[in-house]
Amino acid sequence: MFSDADAAALYDLLNPWEPDSRPSDRFYDELVGAADSVLDVGCGTGAMLHWAREHGHTGRLAGLDPDRAALARARRRADIEWVEGTAADAARQAAFDLATMTGHAFQCLVSDDELRASLAAIRAALRAGGRFAFETRHPQARAWEDWNP
Ligand SMILES: C[S@@+](CC[C@H](N)C(=O)[O-])C[C@H]1O[C@@H](n2cnc3c(N)ncnc32)[C@H](O)[C@@H]1O
Repeated sequence: MFSDADAAALYDLLNPWEPDSRPSDRFYDELVGAADSVLDVGCGTGAMLHWAREHGHTGRLAGLDPDRAALARARRRADIEWVEGTAADAARQAAFDLATMTGHAFQCLVSDDELRASLAAIRAALRAGGRFAFETRHPQARAWEDWNP
């Protein structure tokens, strides 16, 4: 991604959204399916929301990401809202049942200030009782030792 169209296309090839075979994708897919409105923060190329719409989600779906090349791919579906911006901009969206940060997007939030601003903005984008779901790597699992160098 990083505002490069070829890299964004490659990302989709290397990271297909597959809730049927990947437990981590299924975790989010079940939450999305149960929510009437979903804001995907750091949506990248939009694969999770594309899948949800293609598999019958009829509610409000919105994706937010600062990367223009990724968003350009996301925008191939016009029946989903796509917004350019960071997690700290999420407060401009309103009253979602569910906010997500998938695919380790949460790890893009690095400094304490950025984390605080992002969490506050995501909270502001949720209705009362809304939920925020995200994951991050557990450093002690040392996942990188199994990656193909
Ligand atoms: C590894 S990709 C994950 C994309 C998508 N969520 C997925 O599961 O395939 C991380 C995404 O986070 C986005 N990102 C980077 N900084 C961000 C920020 N401050 N707020 C929101 N998204 C951010 C990147 O542009 C990128 O699209």
